[in-house]
Amino acid sequence: MVDHVLFYKKNDYVCPLKIYIKMKKFLVSVVLLLSILKTKADEGMWLPMLLGQQVYDDMVKKGLKLTKKQLYSINTSSLKDAIIIFGGGCTGEIVSNQGLIFTNHHCGYGAIAAASSVENNYLRDGFYAYSKDKEIKTTLTVQFLDRIEDVTTQVEAELKGLSWAERTAKIQEVYKKITDKVSDKENGVSAKIYSMFKDNQYIMYVYKVYRDIRLVATPPESIGKYGGDTDNWEWPRHTGDFSVFRVYASKDGKPADYSLDNTPLKPKKFLPVSLKGFKDGDYAMIYGYPGSTNRYETSYGIKLKTDIENPSLVALRDIRLKFMHEQMIKDPAIKLKLASDYASIANYWKFFDGETKQLKKFNTYEQKKKYEEEFTKWARGKAEYENLFVEYEKNYAAWTPYSKHRQYIREGILGSPLSAFASSLISLEASLTKPATSPEDIKKAVETANASRKSFLSSEDIPSDKKILGSIAKAFYYDVDKSQHPAGGFDKIAAYGSLDDEATYKKWAEDVFAKTFILDDSKWNGFVANPNASVLQNDPAFNFTAAFVKNYNTNYAPLYTSFVSRNNELGKSYMKGIMEKNPKAAKKMYPDANFSMRVSYGNVKSYKPKDAIAYDYATTAKGILEKYVPGDYEFDLPAKQVELFKKGDFGQYIDTARKDLVIAFITTNDITGGNSGSPVLDAYGNLIGLAFDGNYEALSHKLAFDKDLNRTICLDVRYLLWCLDKLGGAKNLIKELKLVK
Ligand code: ARG
Repeated sequence: MVDHVLFYKKNDYVCPLKIYIKMKKFLVSVVLLLSILKTKADEGMWLPMLLGQQVYDDMVKKGLKLTKKQLYSINTSSLKDAIIIFGGGCTGEIVSNQGLIFTNHHCGYGAIAAASSVENNYLRDGFYAYSKDKEIKTTLTVQFLDRIEDVTTQVEAELKGLSWAERTAKIQEVYKKITDKVSDKENGVSAKIYSMFKDNQYIMYVYKVYRDIRLVATPPESIGKYGGDTDNWEWPRHTGDFSVFRVYASKDGKPADYSLDNTPLKPKKFLPVSLKGFKDGDYAMIYGYPGSTNRYETSYGIKLKTDIENPSLVALRDIRLKFMHEQMIKDPAIKLKLASDYASIANYWKFFDGETKQLKKFNTYEQKKKYEEEFTKWARGKAEYENLFVEYEKNYAAWTPYSKHRQYIREGILGSPLSAFASSLISLEASLTKPATSPEDIKKAVETANASRKSFLSSEDIPSDKKILGSIAKAFYYDVDKSQHPAGGFDKIAAYGSLDDEATYKKWAEDVFAKTFILDDSKWNGFVANPNASVLQNDPAFNFTAAFVKNYNTNYAPLYTSFVSRNNELGKSYMKGIMEKNPKAAKKMYPDANFSMRVSYGNVKSYKPKDAIAYDYATTAKGILEKYVPGDYEFDLPAKQVELFKKGDFGQYIDTARKDLVIAFITTNDITGGNSGSPVLDAYGNLIGLAFDGNYEALSHKLAFDKDLNRTICLDVRYLLWCLDKLGGAKNLIKELKLVK
């Protein structure tokens, strides 16, 4: 699962130091002691470096055969050394002593599309480097976790005595002061501070960042994205969601820019790959970087999401996806241009739609409400907590009327690529109109705009964007409260006809695209040579976008900021209260996901999604052939694969019990977006699969974990190997691995 930045940015809050110290001791013991009371479900995204004895014992009880030190150690190599942050939002793992990386196809997707052309279409046809000199340069980076440090005392010392607002304003600066001491760009050392337990603990993670990453192999998209958006977020699944990369370093093993002199990195640790398979109930463990969860969300937050935020996002993405898809199926060049953006928009379009449905199915709102009533009863007479929900109600009531507007800016106005680029010129306009701006600063700002225009144009498809812009403008006009529209924002459109008539918006959008200087090289170059604010202000694309974005930024963004800030302030107290109210349950707590390394343990496990339906824990080649529709956009397959499958040519990758090739399987592990590409390990730490998705019946998992229905969807590593070997003929890669038979 890839992550989508969705939750309110966590701001920071100071509580009186005494309470804080008490709290900190408590929380540290929470992390260290952990669950005596672990339930039958496998909820929990644990910090592998702070694994308590109780959790470790529970892992052993479930089947783990490794020592704590083998899981995580700073002095000797341990499993954590084979796990990497892949690119900006995924996980990957090292699988050979020559820096070979496995991750998901959808994590490598952007890099694969970028390496492709209509002539060498690796996205469509696949790619296998039969020798290292054939591997393809990318702009990706990967990060290895070196060590962690609890920096709570340092952070708190810097923030001492500040109000909540002051603290929020200062926190990034404080982080930077601390991380600057260890960061060393030259040598690829980068540090990042994570707030844990809603600002009660701060942990610094120190990473080694490698920046010469090469594409080694990918199956064709018909395998890597088999089932497309129809099967996305669903089980049973038959997607071969993997791609293969390699990390290079300078000759002395240091992070370095791309160079032919670089050599494959010799890693501290790599994962052996198991051919042994698994059966229902077997131990399964997943290491990786889950992006975000908010499991202590209130009923107010759930309601805002299901009533306003999610439906708005889904409706606006519907518009964008429809027009993009129309174009993509027409022309392979457009497909390559839009594929990566399309995939990520579609991915979370389906996620948020499903999230709403599952939250409703589970009655999450009502359950939270019930708990909050109980909490309020308990809180009576406790000054710190008794008014929490009165305050929540006030805070949500103040923001809710503008929440739709925010979505219509982010997913609507900025959902048109032209409009999004135009909005990035607002800061250029500001430097051009400020009398104090120096000529050098103007030059810099213009250069930045020029560079970002190039990148905008490289993925711009005018026909779809035109339709998006027109439809989005119309949707905004109808759906967002008229009292919140920018003054005169629709006047220019009204010049083309009635605002109640769809044709008006179409004509207007046609004209914007015909007239904007942004899409006209000679006019744009003239502007770059002689930048002038009035050129921007008179441009129809800039003019439109800027009116909406400035209106939002001036009148509504500040409300949002204070809403979030207050919510975080309340959230911190609420969480502290929850722990105080039930100290036993508090021992089962782990910090919400925040893209820091976690481990989750559980089992391979079948499930029952609905009355009278039972799902097996694995899918097979037989099932791929059942879904196969020749020529289909989502369910086509390479001819060679069909032939080999029909013959049953599975080689050493066959599952002997099923006498078939296993494609995917499910486990009870607790993961979320960001875990995509994560290794699924057996009891001995051997690689059995790659996590790549969550199931539809539990798409509420970011806000509420369901112990019966939650499953992680994993690719069987034996199918990955089959694709490399039998389909791609890349025996060179199979030889690099340490196979466990
Ligand atoms: N749901 C998967 C995840 O979030 C991504 C799948 C990408 N495929 C797609 N059809 N959009 O990791």
